[in-house]
Amino acid sequence: MASKIHKICCVGAGYVGGPTMSMIAHKCPDIRIDVVDINEKRIAAWNSETLPIYEPGLSELVTGSRGRNLFFSTEIERAIREADIIFISVNTPTKTYGQGAHRAADLCYVEAVSRIIAENAEEPKIVVEKSTIPVRTAEAIRAVFDASDTEHHHEVLSNPEFLAEGTAISDLESPDRILIGGEQTPGGLKAINQLADIYNHWVSEDKIIKTNLWSSELSKLVANAFLAQRVSSINSISALCEKTGANIDEVAKAIGSDSRIGPKFLKASIGFGGSCFEKDLLNLVYLCEHFGLPEAAQYWESVLQMNDWQKKRFADQIVDSFFNTINDKVISILGFAFKKDTNDTRKSPAIDVCKRLLDEKAKLLIYDPKVEVNKIYDDLGTDEENPNVVICSDPNQTFENAQAIITLTEWDAFKDIDYEAAYQAMQKPAWIFDGRNVLDHKKLTEIGFQVRSIGKPHEP
Ligand code: NAD
Ligand code: UDX
Repeated sequence: MASKIHKICCVGAGYVGGPTMSMIAHKCPDIRIDVVDINEKRIAAWNSETLPIYEPGLSELVTGSRGRNLFFSTEIERAIREADIIFISVNTPTKTYGQGAHRAADLCYVEAVSRIIAENAEEPKIVVEKSTIPVRTAEAIRAVFDASDTEHHHEVLSNPEFLAEGTAISDLESPDRILIGGEQTPGGLKAINQLADIYNHWVSEDKIIKTNLWSSELSKLVANAFLAQRVSSINSISALCEKTGANIDEVAKAIGSDSRIGPKFLKASIGFGGSCFEKDLLNLVYLCEHFGLPEAAQYWESVLQMNDWQKKRFADQIVDSFFNTINDKVISILGFAFKKDTNDTRKSPAIDVCKRLLDEKAKLLIYDPKVEVNKIYDDLGTDEENPNVVICSDPNQTFENAQAIITLTEWDAFKDIDYEAAYQAMQKPAWIFDGRNVLDHKKLTEIGFQVRSIGKPHEP
């Protein structure tokens, strides 16, 4: 393996592989990067004008490097053979079967890639865990390499990704830190420095944290658990605010001004979604149980229970407001993605809320600026034949004869809607349930809406 990295292969062209490699390609024009995947459709989209994922700034980044030093293909074996360093960025979903079902991470894709590396690498490589994995996964990858015929020693590093969707490009451009874990052997330390050299193209040395393998692997799960815990903490207090007349935004500001607590990640909501928090918390719970720590497992499980309760509480509140009957009522749904500025709906709280309303036989008119129509139908387990699910291409189409507007994603554009006109188009009394606390509740009340939000007293 060359001391300086000339060629990178990234296996997995998803929400992490695509943006991460696009940033490295942009910052390191001297390095050739092959992003490979088994999903031909996804690769074709990466090579087209319509990228498979929506992320502000991504399109410009891809266009700048694609065909120069950034290549998307399905040629997995070739890219592995040619690369000095291989990033594993495949999905690590929650296991749905067997031991650890519904808790442990399913490492079958990581293992499959490890086998392909073992079979195809014709010289020693650096293999990087970019996917989020349970602590000690490097041991499993190592075992695959050791069991193969090859006599090459591949170094395994952990380099978890901390980008958040919707802000991936700025997160990648100015990361809070880069975490690299590796074996504390001469070979391991050398590999850590080689990977650090790539990031040094744009990230200063003081932001690069170098640790042993297990600390790095575990830190990723713990970071997500702490973030999710903050959301559950503020959401638990939102329920108390609703009972007492306190205002959750005021409480969040008051506590967030304490520099020890800090202001970020204190936005009350219908609950967290996304592909990571639930999966990684479940994984942490499983690890605690596995290592004989049931109390620690229970502690982290409660973060998930609070999140489920918050989603249910919000949906219940809507049904209760209509005296338990929303049968045939038309409801406008604004937003379906799990947060703004992404087309990702994985574990979106909007799915739970919409399913609950459909169970109650409401008719939903749904608008999201970036989520594909078919994705919404798939997530709701239905199709365009269902008269109770209508996907609209304009938010104004959702208001006609509706009895309630429900905001489920905090898209900025929802603030600019003409709510006077919406009110005119709706049946009366007209309700707004702001699941993201992003609208001007005072103004909406003045228009005539009955406004309900998360953790706030009702406007008089
Ligand atoms: P994703 O599902 O969007 O992408 C994973 C890709 O891997 C898919 O396109 C899939 O086809 C491909 N793949 C699976 N097996 C393969 C194989 N054997 N060979 C080639 N390609 C294969 O997932 P993602 O959101 O990019 O997440 C990837 C990993 O990164 C996960 O472990 C996740 O927990 C972690 N992560 C995700 C985020 C995020 O914001 N999405 C952030 C940080 C870390
Ligand atoms: C998260 C982590 O932030 C990121 O570091 C990691 O790499 C991947 O997982 P992501 O899931 O993309 O990122 O988005 P994030 O901004 O963390 O939001 C997760 C969920 O929490 C969203 O549904 C969001 O709406 C919700 N959230 C977040 C709140 O409800 N309130 C907040 O204050 C913050």
